[in-house]
Amino acid sequence: MANIFPRWTNQLPLKIAICAGSAVVGVALAFNYYATPKALAAGYQPAQPIPFSHKIHVDQIGLDCRYCHSFVEVSGHANVPPGNTCWNCHQHVQRESPKLAPLHQAMDPAYPGYDGKPIEWVRIHKAPDYVYFNHSAHLSRGVGCRSCHGNVHAMEVVSQDQPLSMSWCLDCHRAPENFLRPLEEVCNSGHDAQTYLTNNPQLGVTTPRELGLMLKERFKVKPKITCTTCHR
Ligand code: HEC
Ligand code: HEC
Ligand code: HEC
Ligand code: HEC
Ligand code: HEC
Repeated sequence: MANIFPRWTNQLPLKIAICAGSAVVGVALAFNYYATPKALAAGYQPAQPIPFSHKIHVDQIGLDCRYCHSFVEVSGHANVPPGNTCWNCHQHVQRESPKLAPLHQAMDPAYPGYDGKPIEWVRIHKAPDYVYFNHSAHLSRGVGCRSCHGNVHAMEVVSQDQPLSMSWCLDCHRAPENFLRPLEEVCNSGHDAQTYLTNNPQLGVTTPRELGLMLKERFKVKPKITCTTCHR
């Protein structure tokens, strides 16, 4: 237990007591009832209806994350792509692959088993319902996909890379300078701060930490850690 709950959680009862009277208490007690047994799900890797490989589509073909996860920058919620994003290519490429049968079923009226229903991808990352999370709020401040999802670009099968626990969220909210990137780099899977600095000497900073501090100042980044930021 000791290594799952970081030091600050020792103060949680105190903080909850301080919030006493506010709605947070009732909600917090309710969480304890139904959410406590949930294990941190890092590593969760379910089978998918089509064995879709990010390694092929990102590392080999070079597609940008946003080609498929097209709402991630503009919306609180990321989306998985609809069948026609795949069909754009796969009505021509690898058309006969048996792995793509569910795509034909969804998209190809000439296919015997066609039903036009969306492909049912199994969701992997899921914050509990009582947690408010917002993708665009992070991407627009220079937090890259890799900080939260790991090296998806190289995964044959997606698995959860980070715990998505409250202490994990707070570790970054307390020290975002360790994670911030220039905005044009948020979806660059190969981003490396030192290389970026070497290629951009005009910035006048030399270490990744100085770059992080500079971006924090430039974007006026000040992530909140009050309970109602994430529990509304
Ligand atoms: C060609 C389309 C395509 C591209 C490009 C793509 N993805 Fe995906 N992504 C998918 C599909 C389809 C799924 C659902 C199936 C799966 O999990 O493999 C998915 C699933 C995911 C998931 C898990 C979603 C969940 O259920 O929790 C994450 C995270 C993710 N992608 C991140 C990325 C990142 C980061 C990039 C860029 C480095 C990227 N994707 C590029 C199509 C794509
Ligand atoms: C930009 C074009 C493009 C898009 C969009 C695309 N793919 Fe692909 N996909 C390819 C190419 C090209 C290959 C073949 C790579 C190779 O042979 O090395 C491939 C390979 C595959 C394979 C392996 C097939 C086999 O038999 O080995 C699967 C499965 C697949 N794609 C599924 C999908 C799914 C599902 C989507 C939508 C989420 C998608 N692809 C979107 C271009 C695309
Ligand atoms: C600050 C951390 C963070 C960043 C940055 C981030 N994500 Fe996520 N992502 C999450 C969390 C947390 C969830 C679960 C959210 C939920 O359940 O509401 C998630 C869920 C997802 C899902 C599943 C959504 C669904 O409805 O099935 C996809 C796909 C995804 N992210 C893709 C991306 C891509 C692509 C990027 C970069 C463009 C990205 N994420 C950047 C933390 C992050
Ligand atoms: C790697 C760093 C990082 C991680 C991990 C992270 N955040 Fe953030 N978060 C930020 C930054 C940076 C901001 C933007 C702060 C600003 O705009 O001043 C932010 C802002 C937010 C906001 C404010 C959005 C709004 O609409 O105002 C919420 C809510 C939030 N984060 C929730 C979460 C939750 C929940 C998690 C964990 C599941 C999480 N964050 C994980 C860096 C992070
Ligand atoms: C930056 C976002 C963030 C902030 C700020 C935040 N939380 Fe959380 N909290 C989370 C996330 C994410 C979870 C879900 C963790 C999980 O699923 O493992 C969570 C879970 C919880 C739980 C359930 C714990 C359990 O064992 O199930 C309680 C209680 C809680 N938070 C109370 C608080 C209180 C009180 C505050 C203010 C001191 C607070 N939170 C501030 C993100 C946040």
